[in-house]
Amino acid sequence: MTYHKSNFYGNCEQASEPMHGLVRLMKLGIEELMTRLWAITFLFAIGPVASLADPLPDPITENMFIPVNRDEAILGQLLFYDPILSGNRNIACATCHHPYFATSDGVSLGLGEGGIGVGPKRRGDAKNMPVQRVPRNSPALFNLGANQFTVLFHDGRIEVFSDMPSGFRTPMDDDMLDGFDSILSAQTMFPVLSPDEMAGHHAENDVAKAVRQGLITGNGGAWDLLAKRVAAIPEYAQRFKAVYDHIDAANQIRFTDISNAIAKFIAQEWRSDTSPFDAYLRDPSVLLPPGAEAGMNLFYGKAKCSACHSGAFQTDHKFYAMAAPQLGPGKAATFENHAKDTGRMRVTGDSADAYAFRTPSLRNVMQTGPWGHAGSHSEMMGFLADHLDPSAAIERFANQGTERSGVLLPPLDVDDWREMDDPIARANIRKATVVKVPVALDNAEIASLVSFLRSLDDPQALSGRMGIPPTVPSGLSVGGFGD
Ligand code: HEC
Ligand code: HEC
Repeated sequence: MTYHKSNFYGNCEQASEPMHGLVRLMKLGIEELMTRLWAITFLFAIGPVASLADPLPDPITENMFIPVNRDEAILGQLLFYDPILSGNRNIACATCHHPYFATSDGVSLGLGEGGIGVGPKRRGDAKNMPVQRVPRNSPALFNLGANQFTVLFHDGRIEVFSDMPSGFRTPMDDDMLDGFDSILSAQTMFPVLSPDEMAGHHAENDVAKAVRQGLITGNGGAWDLLAKRVAAIPEYAQRFKAVYDHIDAANQIRFTDISNAIAKFIAQEWRSDTSPFDAYLRDPSVLLPPGAEAGMNLFYGKAKCSACHSGAFQTDHKFYAMAAPQLGPGKAATFENHAKDTGRMRVTGDSADAYAFRTPSLRNVMQTGPWGHAGSHSEMMGFLADHLDPSAAIERFANQGTERSGVLLPPLDVDDWREMDDPIARANIRKATVVKVPVALDNAEIASLVSFLRSLDDPQALSGRMGIPPTVPSGLSVGGFGD
C-alpha cells in the first residue's frame, strides 16, 4: 500500500500532530510520573547525604545486547559511511555521527543537507545553502544495541510498542512498515526522509521529490527509491545476498534490510563496556583514575545524579525538564512561527511533559560535547554548574547574558537566539524545570564529578571496532564530507 503524507518525519522534520494514542497511554502513567517528580524535588531539597544513596550499577554483560552477525555488521558499516542514502548523494549517517567526534558531530547544532566538510569545520555550500540548522544536538550512538534502549531520540518519539503491527510507535503510527529487527533499525528510516538532513529539498532529486509528494512507502516511494539505488550497485547486491537468506536477487532488497544492517553495525561498532569504570564494576580492587572515585561517590551519593542517570548506562530512559538552554530553529509545526522546542510534550501532547528531554546516557560523554539537547555548552564544568541550578543558569543565556559564547555553530545567516531573547520563553522553561531547589556543590566537587565522567571514556568504543572503511561501494566520498 502506498503511504501519502504531507508531513516529513526525519530527525529535524516539521512538527507532526501529537500522537493521540500515546496521549491516552501517558495519562495512565501520569500519577506515577508526578510521584517521581515530587520524589526528585524532595530529594534535591533534603540536601547533603553523607554516603552512597544509590547502589552502583551491576557490570555490563553480554546478554544485555542484541546478537550481531559480523558480515551483516560489515555491510552496515559500508552503508553508514555511504552518501548513497542521501537524496543528493552528498551526506551520510557518519557526517553527523562521526568517530572523530565520538559519534556526534562536534558542534552545537549541525548542518545537514547542503553542508560541506565534517565537525566544526563544516560549512554551508554556497551553491546549495542549508535552509536551517538541524534543530537538536546530534546524539552519540554508544550502546544502542543494548536491549534496554527501547526509546530513541531526545524526545522519545520512537519507542518499542508491541501493540503496533510494526512493533514500534513512531510518528508514522499505523503506516510504519514491519520487518525491522530492532528499534535501532526502525530509527534509520527517518533521517533519510528529512529534507534538511539527508533527503534534500523540493525537486532537486528523486528522493526529495517523493518525500515532497508524500510518497514514502510502496513502489516509487522514498524508501523504495533508496533501496533500488543500493540494489543497483553490484557490491551491495552481492553482499545482501550473502548476508540475508531471504534475498536471492538484487531486486528483493528492501529499505528494512538496509536499516537492519546499519543497526547491527551501530550495535557492534559502538558498544561501550570497557571503560575504567567498567573495569572497576567488574573488580572493585581495580583503582579508578585519580579523582574519579570521589566523583563517583558524589554521583551516586550527595549530588544525586543517579536519581536520573541510573543503571549501567547512566540513564533511566525517562524524560525531565532540566532547563537546558534553547537555541537554533526549534521545532515549530508547519504553520507556526516560533523557535521553541517543548521536547517530550510534542510527542505526548501533555503539558506536564513541557520542555522535558530524555536522560542521556553518559558513556564517553566527555568526548561528545557540546552538551545539552541544543548544544548550549562546550565546557563540562559550566554545563554541570548550570545543570545543578538551571533556573538561575537560563538567565545567563538572556540577551545581554554572559554564557552564549559556549556554543559552537558553523556560520549560517539565521537568528539562533530567538527563544533565549524572549523573557516569557525563559520564564516558561524555568517554570517547567523539575529542579526546584538547586544542588549546592563547590567547584572542587564539580571537578570530581568531571573526573568521574572521564572514567566513562572507553578508548575501544571511541575508535570503533571496525573503524572507517577506506572506500564505499558507491564510489562516493566516504562519510559524505564532500572531499
Ligand atoms: C544531519 C545530521 C544527521 C544525519 C545525516 C543523521 N543523523 Fe542521526 N541524529 C541526528 C540528530 C540531530 C539526532 C537527534 C534528533 C532528535 O532527537 O530529535 C539523531 C538521532 C539519531 C539516533 C537516535 C540516538 C538516540 O540515542 O536517541 C540514531 C540511532 C541515529 N541518529 C542514527 C542515524 C543513522 C543510522 C543515520 C543515517 C541513516 C543518521 N542518524 C543520519 C543527526 C543526524
Ligand atoms: C532530574 C533528572 C536528572 C538529574 C538529577 C541529573 N540529570 Fe543530567 N541530565 C538529565 C536530562 C534530562 C538531561 C538532558 C537535558 C537536555 O539536554 O535538555 C541531562 C543531561 C546531562 C548531561 C549532558 C549530556 C549530553 O550528552 O549532552 C550531563 C553531562 C549530565 N546530565 C550529568 C549529570 C550529573 C553529573 C548529574 C549530577 C550532578 C546530573 N546530570 C543530574 C537529567 C538529570
